Amino acid sequence: MVRIDRTSLKGRDYIETLDWTTQEIDEALALAAELKEKFRAGEPHRLLPDKTLFMLFLDKSTRTRNAFEAGMTQLGGHAHYLDAEKTQVAHGESPKDMGIILSRYGHGLAIRHDLVPGEGNAYMREVARWAEIPVINLQCDVDHPTQTLADLMTLRERRGSNLRGLRVAVSWAYAPSYAKPLSVPQGLLTLLPRFGIDVVLAPPPGFDLMPEVVERARRAAAEGGGTIELTDDMDAAFEEADVVYPKSWGRLDLFTDEAAALADAARYRDWICDERRMSLTKPDSLYMHCLPADRGTEVTDAVIDGPHSVVYDEAENRLHTGKALMALTMG
Ligand code: CP
Repeated sequence: MVRIDRTSLKGRDYIETLDWTTQEIDEALALAAELKEKFRAGEPHRLLPDKTLFMLFLDKSTRTRNAFEAGMTQLGGHAHYLDAEKTQVAHGESPKDMGIILSRYGHGLAIRHDLVPGEGNAYMREVARWAEIPVINLQCDVDHPTQTLADLMTLRERRGSNLRGLRVAVSWAYAPSYAKPLSVPQGLLTLLPRFGIDVVLAPPPGFDLMPEVVERARRAAAEGGGTIELTDDMDAAFEEADVVYPKSWGRLDLFTDEAAALADAARYRDWICDERRMSLTKPDSLYMHCLPADRGTEVTDAVIDGPHSVVYDEAENRLHTGKALMALTMG
């Protein structure tokens, strides 16, 4: 691994993984592994004493909020949780004004704005244009870069640092709870092939990802040595897979009509990750999911609680990767 000077990441935004080189991502993962060891050993690691992170949420969260909030405390700083509905963002205050003003109060600004295609990423980039402190994307319409970094860490822990040739099936799965953002499958597509991983993407008809993101992912894959293959057959994607990452996402053309989106998705109720489908994969394959999962529809209990599942490791690694990102950009 080519090491880079960690201080070169101070002040940087982290909005999409594509904004960082693979060497910079390697460095973040190296620091995450160090911080994980320290956390487990109970060793203090106050890399951000007296620093403040503002976390603005326009959507719900369990893992992301708590990983960053707890992480900031462990780094010796403090995180403010801002429910956007309780701020002037709800009255339309501009991203420019918010970015400039919060820059005068603290040291980092993290945002989740993921539910409306075409809005979240543009909003964050506008905040970042004006903010004088790093902006971290806690999930937008395009990418979920703090999740996919934790996923990459989990893959390396399980399969080693050289992931070239690993076959990862990123499949749609049925969920009746809500039309989930496209940002996780898009984030996996734009990150994993840069490290030589071969991704098989399996959406049912109508559930395509954003074409411009897929195009960017293909260009990045060509540089990184991984591949992207497309199928509309969940079984075919699972055949001989080393890793499966089946999860639901909404139809791009139906995000403004949740009832229609869920009714349409129900045509594909049989897109579930169950033991039959896992039997198509390699014997030692991994089952991954960013969570929350719709148990019984996206995945059976037997799979998510079974021997292939690494979902709690992924969730745990949200803490360590989140801390690494904050320490590198805000340090
Ligand atoms: N995976 C993830 O982002 O979880 P939350 O929505 O709970 O933050």
